[in-house]
Amino acid sequence: MPNSINLYKRLVRYLIPYKGKVFLAIFCSIIVGLIATSPVPIIQKTFDEIFVKKDTFMLTAIPLALVGLYLIKGALSYLQNVIIFGISWELVVSLRNEIFYKIQRLPLGYFEDTPVGELLSRFINDVTIMQSSITNMVKEFLQNAFMLVGLICWVFYLKWDWAIMSLFVFPLAIAPIASIARKLRHLSRRGQEIIATINSTVVETFSGIKVVRGFSLEKQQNKKLDLQNDQFLSVMKSNVKYTELSSPLMEILGMVSGAFILWYGGNQVLEGTVTQGSFIAFIVALFMMYGPIRLLFKIYTKFQGSLAGAERVFFILDQDEEDVKGGDLTLNGFEEEIEFRNVSFKYPSRSAWVLNDINLTVKKSSIVAIVGMSGAGKTTLVDLLFRFYLASEGKILIDGVNINDFDVLSLRSKLALVTQETFLFNDTIRNNIAFGRMQVTDEEIMEASRAAHVDSFVKTLDDGYETEIGERGVKLSGGQKQRIAIARAILRNAPILVLDEATSSLDSESEKLVQDALNALMQNRTTFIIAHRLSTIKNADRIIVLDQGKVVEEGSHDELLSNEGVYKKYYEMQFSGTVS
Ligand SMILES: Nc1ncnc2c1ncn2[C@@H]1O[C@H](COP(=O)(O)OP(=O)(O)OP(=O)(O)O)[C@@H](O)[C@H]1O
Ligand SMILES: [Mg+2]
Repeated sequence: MPNSINLYKRLVRYLIPYKGKVFLAIFCSIIVGLIATSPVPIIQKTFDEIFVKKDTFMLTAIPLALVGLYLIKGALSYLQNVIIFGISWELVVSLRNEIFYKIQRLPLGYFEDTPVGELLSRFINDVTIMQSSITNMVKEFLQNAFMLVGLICWVFYLKWDWAIMSLFVFPLAIAPIASIARKLRHLSRRGQEIIATINSTVVETFSGIKVVRGFSLEKQQNKKLDLQNDQFLSVMKSNVKYTELSSPLMEILGMVSGAFILWYGGNQVLEGTVTQGSFIAFIVALFMMYGPIRLLFKIYTKFQGSLAGAERVFFILDQDEEDVKGGDLTLNGFEEEIEFRNVSFKYPSRSAWVLNDINLTVKKSSIVAIVGMSGAGKTTLVDLLFRFYLASEGKILIDGVNINDFDVLSLRSKLALVTQETFLFNDTIRNNIAFGRMQVTDEEIMEASRAAHVDSFVKTLDDGYETEIGERGVKLSGGQKQRIAIARAILRNAPILVLDEATSSLDSESEKLVQDALNALMQNRTTFIIAHRLSTIKNADRIIVLDQGKVVEEGSHDELLSNEGVYKKYYEMQFSGTVS
C-alpha cells in the first residue's frame, strides 16, 4: 500500500512544526502507559511477599504508592490531551486557511464544475475528519501502544513460555482486521462524497429559495435530500457494522487464550512449580492487555476511515492552480492600444469554438462597443482580457506586449469590471463600494456614489451607507445593485473599463443619468461596453458586431446603419419594439 504510506508521511509532515510539543506528548504517553501496567507487579508482590512474609509496612506503602502513581498518571494524561487537542485545532485552522487560499488560486473552470456546497464540505467536514485522524493517531495510539508494550514485557518477565503460548493467537486477527479497515476506508470515502452532495443540495435550495417557492419545488427538493440522506444512512450503518466488528473479534480471541492459561497455568500452580502471585499477576496482565489490543485494532480501523478525509483534503491541495503568475512583467500603465490578434477560444469543457479569429485594435481612450445576439461570445471576449481564461489561439497585446507576459495581478489592477450578473457581498453598502480598499476616503466613496446615482437611494435607507445588504445584496433592487457595482468600478479608477450590460437593469430615466456618469468616466479611459440596448452605445467610437464568435461588422453607428447589414437589422428591430 505505497499510497497509504505516502498519506501517512504527509500527515506526519503536518506535525513537524509542533515537534517539541509532540515529543512532550510522547514522553507523557510513555510514562502514562507504564504506570498503567503497575498493578501487575504490585499484585505479584502482594501475594508472594506481603501475604507470605506478613510484611505490614509494605501493605501500607503499596496502596499509597498506587495512589501516588495514579495521580501522576492523571496529571500527565491530562497534559498530553491538552497538548494534542491544542495541536489538532491549530491544524484545523491552518488547514482551512491552506484550502481557502488554494481554492482562490484554482482556475475558473474548477468552479464551473464543482458546486459551492461541495467546496464547503471539504472545508468543514473533511478537515474535521482529518483532524480526528491525526488526534487518534497520536493520542490514543501512543497511550495504548506503550501500555501494551509494558504489559508484554511484564508477561515475558513473569513467565516467558506462557507469554508465547497466550500471545500467538493475536496475529491471527491481523488479516480480518486489515480487510475490515479497507472496507471502512471505502465506506468513509463514500460517506463524505454523499455529505458533499447533501451540502450542495442545501446550498442550492436555500440560495435559490425564491425560485424553489415560486415553482413549488419544495417537494422535489425534499425528495432529493431524502434520497441523499437515505444513501448516507445506509453507508453509515454499514460503517458501524464494520467498526464494531473488531472489538468482539478481539475479545473472543483474548478469552480463548486467557482460558487456556487459566487451565494450563492453574495446573502448574497446583503442582507447586509456579507461585500463586506470579499466576495471578500473569492472568491480570493478560486480561489488561485486551483493552489496548482491542483499542489499537479499533483505532487502526477507524483511522483508515479518517484517512479518506485526508485524501479528500489533499486532493484539493494537489489541484493544478490557475496560471496566475503569468510572466514577470508589471503592467504599470497603458499608453497606446490594446490588440486582439487572431484570437480564437473554446472553453476547456466544450469542443465548439466560442471565439473565432478575432482581430481588434482599440486605441487608448476610445470607446468600443460590442453587440451581438445572446451567446455570441461578448462576455467571453472581455473575460480573455482579464485572463480569466487563456486564449486558445492568437494573443492579446497591450502596448505590444502579450498579456500573458504580465504578472496577472498587475494586469487586473489596470482593469475595472462591471459584470453582467451583479455580485455583491454580504456587507454594508459602503464596504461593497470600497471593496476592501482601506485607504479610500469617505469623500471618494461619496463622489463615486453620486456619479453612479447610488446616493439618491441610500439617503432613503435608515442606516445609509452602513446598511447591510444581505447575501448577494438580496435586500436591494436589481437596479440598485447594478448602481453599486458601477460605483465600485468608478472608484477603482482603472485606465481600462469593461462594462458588460452595466445598465441593463435600470429604467430609462436612471439609465440616462447613470449613462451620463459613465460618459464622464469614459472620458480619459479606454472602455469596452457590451449592451443589448443600442441606445446606450450610439456614442461609441467603434461598434463591433459579433455573431457566433466572429466579427461580422464594425464601424461607427452611422457607418453601420448605412451598411444595411446585421446592425441595421438589430436597430430596426429595437426601434420597432420587438427586442428590448
Ligand atoms: N464557462 C463556460 N463553459 C462553457 N461554455 C461557456 C461558458 N461560458 C459561456 N459559454 C458558452 O460560450 C458561448 C458564449 O457565451 P458568452 O457568455 O460569451 O455570450 P454573450 O455574448 O455574453 O451572451 P449574452 O448576451 O447572453 O450575455 C455560449 O454559447 C455559452 O454557452
Ligand atoms: Mg454576456
